[in-house]
Amino acid sequence: MPADYTPATIADVRRLRDTLDQQGKKLVFTNGCFDLLHAGHVRYLEQARALGDAMVVALNSDASVRALKGPDRPLNSQNDRAEVMAALRAVDAVVIFDDARATALIEAIRPHVYAKGGDYTVESLNREERSALEAAGSQISILPLVPGRSTTSTINKMLATDCTLASNANARLRLAVLGSGAGSNLRAIISAIQAGTLNAEIAIALSDQSESSFLQIAREAGLSALFVDGGANPRKFSDAAQKEIFEHLERARVDVVVLIGFMRILKDPVISAYAGRIVNVHPSLLPKHKGANAPQLAIDAGDSETGCTVHLVTAEIDAGRILAQAAVPVNAGDTAEKLHARIKTEEHKLLPKVLNEWRELGLPVRGAGQP
Ligand code: GAR
Repeated sequence: MPADYTPATIADVRRLRDTLDQQGKKLVFTNGCFDLLHAGHVRYLEQARALGDAMVVALNSDASVRALKGPDRPLNSQNDRAEVMAALRAVDAVVIFDDARATALIEAIRPHVYAKGGDYTVESLNREERSALEAAGSQISILPLVPGRSTTSTINKMLATDCTLASNANARLRLAVLGSGAGSNLRAIISAIQAGTLNAEIAIALSDQSESSFLQIAREAGLSALFVDGGANPRKFSDAAQKEIFEHLERARVDVVVLIGFMRILKDPVISAYAGRIVNVHPSLLPKHKGANAPQLAIDAGDSETGCTVHLVTAEIDAGRILAQAAVPVNAGDTAEKLHARIKTEEHKLLPKVLNEWRELGLPVRGAGQP
């Protein structure tokens, strides 16, 4: 019986780097989860290795894969992933690292070349990793992804046999919930599921606010709850974050994406891939008072009545098909806070009701022809 594989240490890799350096040769460094190795990975690693004379692959530890990709991953343990990776002809050494980012490793190893796969650009690399690479004088090479090969598509093909579930009219709706704030609508959805008045399950909760009550409520309910860093500008949601959200939704195999007080604007790839399957709740009777501060806008306009709207999300803000509305009176002396609280009471009933009637409304779920 061969001995268990032992990954390299940072000191081993640093020695390898120094030896190569003395010989005028180059060490290539790349990193990732490499959970379910496929031909796309192998081709990528061959291309990366060709950029130098030896290559080290830094594998995310099991804990860091869970933090990045959710509680169902990795499929293969770090030692198994390291052993398979080390068997490839392109790979000279494998190290395991525990942080979500490879910054500390880059600083310790100071690779001559850093290779990254895919739709990244030098600009969209993580800021810290990029500065560490610049400080180490590493050449940064972005290599194209091999089309049609990805871990997610492999997993989805394996799960395609599950299509009876997807086509079953009584199947529970798999939801992703996205929020930035207080999370009262999330609480209402959880309560409706527990009470049996909403036939659904929450596959994943995502927030752009790491300290939000929304995330706290999701975690307390035992949901898979993840923070997605949208970048410093609260009005913008970076391309990398848009892509990250898309990947989380794909992995969670959701039927419907529910926006509840999610204050960033979703764009492609999510908007196109989930067309007809993204729903938002808004605190006004749309098309009146689109955008932020809708309760205040109703007061300022002197409206005697406002309310809430559940509608489909399109690229145009608050303009998709209206699915349901509920009216709320504007009382004399109302502040935006008081009015918003009364609107939310209606939202808490309306949103779970629409979700429970999703299929009866003829709305699409994940299935044939959908991602
Ligand atoms: C809800 O009132 C929702 O309608 C609003 O944010 C609140 C979130 O509350 N959304 C918007 O204004 C979107 N334009 P919650 O975090 O307590 O569920």
